[in-house]
Amino acid sequence: SAPAFIAVDGPAACGKGTLAKSLALKFNLKHLDTGLLYRAIGYKALQLSIPFDNKEWLVQLSSRLSSLDLSEPGLRSDDVATAASKISIIPGVREALNAYSRQFSSTMHPNSQGTILDGRDVGTVLCPDAHVKLFLTASAEVRARRRLQELVLKGMLKEGDVDARDAMYERVLEDLKERDQRDTSRSTAPLRAAEDAHTLDTTHMSAVEVVTEAERIVMKAC
Ligand code: C5P
Repeated sequence: SAPAFIAVDGPAACGKGTLAKSLALKFNLKHLDTGLLYRAIGYKALQLSIPFDNKEWLVQLSSRLSSLDLSEPGLRSDDVATAASKISIIPGVREALNAYSRQFSSTMHPNSQGTILDGRDVGTVLCPDAHVKLFLTASAEVRARRRLQELVLKGMLKEGDVDARDAMYERVLEDLKERDQRDTSRSTAPLRAAEDAHTLDTTHMSAVEVVTEAERIVMKAC
C-alpha cells in the first residue's frame, strides 16, 4: 500500500523537484513544490519593487497566496529564486506559507493515496510526522553543472559557446552557494536534514539511480 506522506528536502538544484514529481506519479500522491510559494511572493515583490525588508506587506501578501498564479513561467528564473530566498527569512511569511501547505496536505483528493511535498523544511518543520523523509544533497559544482545543462536543453544557452558557458557556470555556481549559505544559516527553519531523514548524496548518481533508490526506501518504509 502507498504511504500517506512523503517529505523531500534539499538545497537548490539538488533534483528534489524531479524526484518528487516522479514519486508522486509512481505512488499516486498529490504533489506541492513549496519553493514555488516563496517564489510567487518574490516574483510579486520584484514586479512591484517592494523592498525585501517590508515585512508587513510581504506577510500580508503571503496570507493571500491563493490569489497568485503558481503556474506563471517567470517564477522559475534565478532572480526570483534569489528574491524568494531573501524573503524566506521572515517568520511571518513562513507561517502564512506553511498554513497554505498544511491546507493543501489536509485536503482529500478522491484519486490520490497521499501527499508529497518538497522544499527546505518539510521534514523538520512543516511535517515532522511524515512517514518517509528524504534529504537530497550534491556538491555545489555538480548542481551548477546540472542547472547549466537545463539551460542548454531549454535553448537558453548554446552548448558550443564555450565562453558563454564558462561565464554562466561561474555565475550559477556563485548564486547557488550564496543561496545555500542564506538557506542554511537563517534562524527560522534553516535548511537541514531531519534526524530521521534518509540522506541521498546524488553527486555521483544519475537521475534514474536517485529515483530507484528513493522508491526502494519508500517501499521499505511502508
Ligand atoms: O526550491 P526552490 O529553489 O524553488 O526555493 C526557492 C527559495 O525558497 C529557496 O532558496 C528557499 O530560500 C525558499 N524556500 C524555503 N522553504 C521551503 C521552500 C523554499 O525557505 N520549504
